[in-house]
Amino acid sequence: MKKSALKKQQPVRVAIIGTGSMAPYHVERYVAIPGCQVVAACDVVLDRARAFCEKHNIPAAYGSVGEMLAAEGDEIDAVSVVTQDPFHMPVALQCLRAGKHVLCEKPLAVNYPDARKMLAAAKRAGVIHMVNFSYRNWPCIQAATQAIRRGDIGEIRHVEASYLQAWLASKVWGDWKTNVHWLWRLSTGHGSKGVLGDVGVHILDYATYPAGPLREVYCRLKTFPKAPGNKIGEYKLDANDSAVLNVEFANGALGVIHTSRCVGGHANRLALKIAGTKGTISMDSEVSTTSYRECRGPGLDKAEWRDVPCKPVPNNYERFIAAIRSGKPGEPDFARGAEIQKVLDACFKSNKERKPVRL
Ligand SMILES: NC(=O)c1ccc[n+]([C@@H]2O[C@H](COP(=O)([O-])OP(=O)(O)OC[C@H]3O[C@@H](n4cnc5c(N)ncnc54)[C@H](O)[C@@H]3O)[C@@H](O)[C@H]2O)c1
Repeated sequence: MKKSALKKQQPVRVAIIGTGSMAPYHVERYVAIPGCQVVAACDVVLDRARAFCEKHNIPAAYGSVGEMLAAEGDEIDAVSVVTQDPFHMPVALQCLRAGKHVLCEKPLAVNYPDARKMLAAAKRAGVIHMVNFSYRNWPCIQAATQAIRRGDIGEIRHVEASYLQAWLASKVWGDWKTNVHWLWRLSTGHGSKGVLGDVGVHILDYATYPAGPLREVYCRLKTFPKAPGNKIGEYKLDANDSAVLNVEFANGALGVIHTSRCVGGHANRLALKIAGTKGTISMDSEVSTTSYRECRGPGLDKAEWRDVPCKPVPNNYERFIAAIRSGKPGEPDFARGAEIQKVLDACFKSNKERKPVRL
């Protein structure tokens, strides 16, 4: 860390970049942290930034990152980048050049080379850099990861991971056809990498954080017909809606990882099963995020499962602010974001060539 850490008693002043649907979560989490203040927000749609600032009691609204950095300068310590995916890189690079700590939304970039550029820039700036893989905030994934690292289930042999959403098959989150907030996610021309880039990154992080990195992927992607001419207004609906990955882990385990926006009945469900030589761990967010189940020890031979309660864990925003205060790196960082991006690039190559790709 080149940039000196902030003293414990000093406030950490954060700005929000992009004031769309995810931005309120950032503000709510930051203001809940003692000594953390949200001092400004900006959006290319200035009126949106103004309304957002008014609603969340943020003193200053701007229409561009440049204006905000020029006006606020030293009054901002850190930023949250909450724009649509293709703008993460230019916005983050601009803020890194200005020496700001950056928490960037996922996916870190739109491809691995861009993610590497962001990592290099963050290292050069000597600031804290994190990517918002939000499911790290769940106690179950942290506790299960520790259990696996302790060797509780032995050597990993098999992994089953899925992230299912329903918003294309229902109106559970409103009508996607009339909301630009959903439409850009369906259009490669608007920078979307489909369900794989949107929530596939989450399940890849969720599965490989406890089970270890991947060695090979064989991926199938599918885009389903959704509207006449597969177009709504300026949005060409060509991004993938379902992704199915056959994977091999570096530790030799095999796995299946899949994700879709077309699974009615599951608004937002993450499920993960990791089986080892001494037992199996299972998590299902529709059951609990504060406990997981395991079958091991005396229960193994009877196929008996027990619930394992988990201690609360700090969320990504708390970890980001703590890292700024301590000067020690925060996790998950841009290196992790880039690692996941590399898997994404391999998935697109595999789908295109219809064959497995080594990582
Ligand atoms: N971590 C999570 O669980 C999670 C959940 C939802 C969304 N996200 C991510 O958050 C990001 C934003 O998603 P959203 O649903 O809020 O999108 P959104 O479309 O609702 O909002 C994005 C906002 O960014 C603004 N913007 C675009 N370029 C900008 C720029 N250069 N400077 C300032 N503002 C700019 C847009 O005008 C828009 O208001 C996406 O990358 C998405 O993948 C993450």
